[in-house]
Amino acid sequence: MNIRSLKFDGKALHIVDQRCLPFDVIDVICSNEQEVWEAIKLMKIRGAPAIGVAAAYGMNLGVKDFSGNKEEFFKKLKEVKDYLNSARPTAVNLKWATQRIFSYARKHAEQSLDEIKQEILVEAQRIEEEDIDTNFRIGEFGSALFKENDTIMTICNSGALATAGYGTAFGVIRRSFEKYTGIKAIALETRPYLQGARLTAFELKELGIPFHLITDNMAGFIVSKGLVNGIVVGADRIATNGDTANKVGTYTLAVLANYHKIPFYVAAPISTIDPHIESGNDIPIEERDPEEVTHCGGKRIAPEGIKVYNPSFDLTPNVLINAIITEKGILRQPFKESIKEILKNN
Ligand code: MRU
Repeated sequence: MNIRSLKFDGKALHIVDQRCLPFDVIDVICSNEQEVWEAIKLMKIRGAPAIGVAAAYGMNLGVKDFSGNKEEFFKKLKEVKDYLNSARPTAVNLKWATQRIFSYARKHAEQSLDEIKQEILVEAQRIEEEDIDTNFRIGEFGSALFKENDTIMTICNSGALATAGYGTAFGVIRRSFEKYTGIKAIALETRPYLQGARLTAFELKELGIPFHLITDNMAGFIVSKGLVNGIVVGADRIATNGDTANKVGTYTLAVLANYHKIPFYVAAPISTIDPHIESGNDIPIEERDPEEVTHCGGKRIAPEGIKVYNPSFDLTPNVLINAIITEKGILRQPFKESIKEILKNN
């Protein structure tokens, strides 16, 4: 499958507008940090690793035409960082990527302004390339947890569109399909934004992976019938105790998996672990526009003047997670220890 969430052409960032998929492939061109911010905010690009990579290029776009002294340059770079970070609050990959660019630029502060700008671009490209490699590794490690004829359930979209390529949780399904015969997937539609119906179904179909699409409220029945061997999901932020924020609906699946004694796995790069957050309670959860709930496909489906909750993510306590699949290997309970160890060696 050739679709890529983003591509940098040396001057501008090209993003496939994910709001228009699966029907139209529309290229959005971001030439400055405001356009990158808007693309992230409006979810033209979404998925934790993908918004991290986009923001890394946003850092480049925010300072590439800057002229002034070095002190002013770093002040501007910090402003661009804080501005991009404000686009969405939950996925830590956004802050991780902008901070990585900022620290890298600081490390090269002795060089000329043009050289620092060049270093920023190179580091953004490195973040993009590393993400693809990371996802292959996650896919490889994760596929070892599955076997021939397994059916794997997932929520939201954690595929090529949510990353720089291949995908995290989706990558585990993809690699399992490449390795074993009889692999099937079950994709939850993922109301209200429908990342599952619009994006995961699109990617699974393109790759020829056999799957069924279900609405979110069907998951319980399907699992209770013994039709699912394991559930694998992505993550937007993981606390150091393993508590995980991911697309709303993930927690429900974790409870379900636990009740029915099937494994529940989180697949994410180490950059999704926030070393400053000790438990899920400290992870900020984004609340989005109530219209995402009251409307579907641009059409109102609920009465006017009602109250709506629209948290975009939920929190899965670490006790419900059997393993966290990273690019450095599979983390097991107690996550406090295994996460500490992996962060130490990273
Ligand atoms: O609101 P979104 O579409 O950005 O949410 C995406 C998710 O929740 C994904 O599961 C998560 O970012 C992991 S993607 C590799």
